[in-house]
Amino acid sequence: MTVIATRQPSTSDLPGIRGDLLARVEQRLEQYTESERARWKQTNPRAAQPVEAVIDMVSRGGKRLRPIFCLSGFLAAGGDPASAAAVDASAALELLQAFALIHDDVIDNSALRRGRPTIHVHHAGEHSARGWLGEARRFGEGVAVLAGDLALVYADELTFDFPPAARRLWGELRTELIVGQHLDVAVAAESVVDPQLSRWIAVCKSGRYSIQRPLLLGATLAGRTDLAGAFEGYGLALGEAFQLRDDLMDAFGDPGATGKPAGLDFAEHKMTLLLTLAVERDARIRNLLVRDGDTPWDADLIRQVLEETGVRATVERTIGELVDRAVTAISSAGLDPAWTDEFARLATLVAYRDR
Ligand code: IPE
Ligand code: IPE
Ligand code: MG
Ligand code: MG
Ligand code: MG
Repeated sequence: MTVIATRQPSTSDLPGIRGDLLARVEQRLEQYTESERARWKQTNPRAAQPVEAVIDMVSRGGKRLRPIFCLSGFLAAGGDPASAAAVDASAALELLQAFALIHDDVIDNSALRRGRPTIHVHHAGEHSARGWLGEARRFGEGVAVLAGDLALVYADELTFDFPPAARRLWGELRTELIVGQHLDVAVAAESVVDPQLSRWIAVCKSGRYSIQRPLLLGATLAGRTDLAGAFEGYGLALGEAFQLRDDLMDAFGDPGATGKPAGLDFAEHKMTLLLTLAVERDARIRNLLVRDGDTPWDADLIRQVLEETGVRATVERTIGELVDRAVTAISSAGLDPAWTDEFARLATLVAYRDR
């Protein structure tokens, strides 16, 4: 992309340059995974199967939010658009997302991702259709565990040349995601009713790796660690809003738009902020914890209670407050005004999405 190397960025053109870099991220993802597929296929066609599962997940699309925030952080911090570092970091973030999603769907027992059968469900189906030996579900989940692991290894490989500060960030980002995912299932299993803890889990399992850390990674690769405070304020608040919206979409969204099942958090007894507030406000939800702990909860009843008790409205209000906080934080960063506006636009996009 010589166009990028020779163009003198003007401020108004920066989102356009980000678009060029996003196209390079897609090329990088394709080139990297396809060369892995070819390499392993030579050994044995089956050896390429976990790589193909990674390619399957990555090529289904997705919003590419993590690359968007990493590249925005990088460019807003004055990073050189011709450098490969932010492209590699963004491709790594999207491979990490493939790892997180493939494993998350096993953990959450989900059948649908990005509008298609999840990796474990697809491979369980193959196992059944071909009449192979053993348990189909176990096989499907085994393939998904390995494919997810492989996506994580690939993500790491793209970060090997990072400078030490960026490597440290990358380590934090991976650890938070994994610990957050554990907290999510542990708190569900034990029915821990603690709205503040639910909010922290939303940040830890999702907000940090989705928004806060990608932004910081971009700024760090551009050599601007001084932006950490403002990006952290923006990224933490918007990251939480991102996950609260995700929880609302699970409860009230349309699978045709989200590409994910509806009501799955209720079926899996997830202690989201929505659910813990409903427990505090309504005896019918408290009774679910006692009586129906080992069966999927009644999603229609929970939706009705969330409306009647005003919990849905409370969470909407919280999202609004988080967006305000994010925009205030980014306004104090001293960025070029075009980038301040762009970050405000991204905040609204992320917090009020329907997919
Ligand atoms: C889904 O992330 C997983 C969460 C952290 C909630 P996204 O909503 O960014 O999913 P894709 O990448 O667009 O599919
Ligand atoms: C999980 O949150 C976030 C990660 C994938 C790490 P969710 O379980 O709510 O994500 P979705 O709704 O399945 O995408
Ligand atoms: Mg999930
Ligand atoms: Mg989950
Ligand atoms: Mg969700």
